[in-house]
Formats: sequence, C-alpha cells, structure tokens
Amino acid sequence: MRLVLVGPPGAGKGTQAQFIASRLEVPKISTGDIFRANVSGGTELGKTAKRYMDDGGLVPDEITNAMVRDRLAEDDAEAGFLLDGFPRNIAQAEVLDDICAALGTSLDVVLELRVDFDEVVKRLSGRRTCRKCGHVWHLEFDPPSQDGVCDKCGGELYQRDDDKPETVRNRLTVYSEQTQPLIDFYTGADKLVSIDAQGPVEDVTERAIAALTPFA
Ligand code: AP5
Ligand code: MG
Repeated sequence: MRLVLVGPPGAGKGTQAQFIASRLEVPKISTGDIFRANVSGGTELGKTAKRYMDDGGLVPDEITNAMVRDRLAEDDAEAGFLLDGFPRNIAQAEVLDDICAALGTSLDVVLELRVDFDEVVKRLSGRRTCRKCGHVWHLEFDPPSQDGVCDKCGGELYQRDDDKPETVRNRLTVYSEQTQPLIDFYTGADKLVSIDAQGPVEDVTERAIAALTPFA
C-alpha cells in the first residue's frame, strides 16, 4: 500500500505511523524525522532545514521534494510506503503524483487524522522525545516511569524546539493555510479517508486499520 498520513501538528501522525507501517509491512517515511536527524548530525541539509523549522514554517519545496524523491527510490519503498508529514501543500502533492508516476505506480490512499485544537495543544506541550532512540513520550498520556529518562533505552528525553508555544501557534497557522487545502485536493481525487484520532492510541490504530482495509 502507498499511503499518506495527514493531520495537524500533534495529531499523532508519528505515533500512529509506526503502528500502521508495521501492520502493513511498509517503511515509515517521516520528513520531520529525516530533517531532525540531519539537524542533530550537523549536515548542510540540517543547517538549512533548522532555519525554517525553528519558526514553524515549511522547509522550501525544492529541498523537501528532492529528499522525498531520493527516499522513495530506495528498494524498501518499492512495494509500498507510509509518508508522515509529506505532502504538506498542493505543490508537494503534485510532485508526489509525478514521483509515483515515474516509478510506474500511484498513491492508494490518504488518511486524515482528526483532532480538536485544544487536544493538539495538550499533546504538543507534553511531548518528550528520546535523544537516543527517538521514542516519543507524553508527560500525561504516556509518561516514562522516571522523569526525563527513556524507558526503552535509558536515553535522555528532550522537548522539541518547535514545541514552544509561539512556534506551535505558527505551525498551526501554516497547517490551516497550506496543508488543510490537501483535504479538498485528495477528496476530489477520491483518495481521502478520515478518522477520529482522539482517544487511546490503540483505539486510533484500530480505526485507522479498519479505514485502510478496503484499500489493501
Ligand atoms: P513534523 O515533525 O512532521 O511535525 P508536525 O507535522 O508538526 O507534527 P508533529 O510531529 O508535531 O506531530 P505528530 O502528528 O507526529 O504527533 P505525535 O505522534 O508526535 O515537522 C516538523 C517541521 O519539519 C515542520 O514544521 C517543517 O518545518 C518541517 N517539515 C516536515 N515535513 C515537511 C514538508 N513536507 N515540507 C516542508 N517542511 C517540512 O504526537 C504528539 C504527542 O501526543 C506525543 O507526545 C504523543 O505521545 C501524544 N499522543 C499521540 N497520540 C495520542 C493519543 N491518541 N492520545 C494521547 N496522546 C497522544
Ligand atoms: Mg511527527
């Protein structure tokens, strides 16, 4: 299956992506994760991306599109993929169609995760990420047993720079102005399915799998 997850910051795209990708046996490709890996690795791509990420804006399309094009050309994406965080505007969606066409295939489905605004703010303000293994925790909804320490690997937990309140506000504005139009775009292409992404993580995963099954 070739699948895109779309939803506002904090909707649970990354959280659900790992479960859905493993159930569907496809690689999970998160543009935000790839940018953050480049930021911590100190690469040129990371230095450029950080300038945009710190304000909550989008990294320029030509950089992002080239990165996705390269990633989708890798062998493990041949039989399917799950994209988390791409596309984020109409221009990126059109490029994704072109990339798929060049690979002799097309996108199967776009899954929208729907979450209330207040819930998104709560999820982002309590999010903590492990520096070592990247696991994502939440201070209230999925707390680690010891403050600041990852239960999975013992790594140090940190708060993402772009989860500061003023940056979160900007990310939400960017979402409604640039990303939300994708909902109509993919509805028009008859590829959109939406689920309620509130409630326990496992329940959301089950709703996602049920919604995706007709496309398998
Ligand atoms: P990105 O990393 O993609 O950030 P985002 O879209 O803002 O989304 P988040 O990762 O913040 O939220 P999420 O939906 O993954 O939620 P999560 O699962 O973590 O992008 C970051 C930046 O990179 C962008 O701002 C941009 O600058 C750049 N970028 C990336 N892609 C780009 C592109 N295509 N073009 C240009 N620039 C791009 O969950 C959040 C919290 O809630 C966690 O703590 C989690 O534990 C908790 N949680 C999850 N599910 C539940 C639940 N059901 N109940 C309770 N808590 C839950
Ligand atoms: Mg994410």
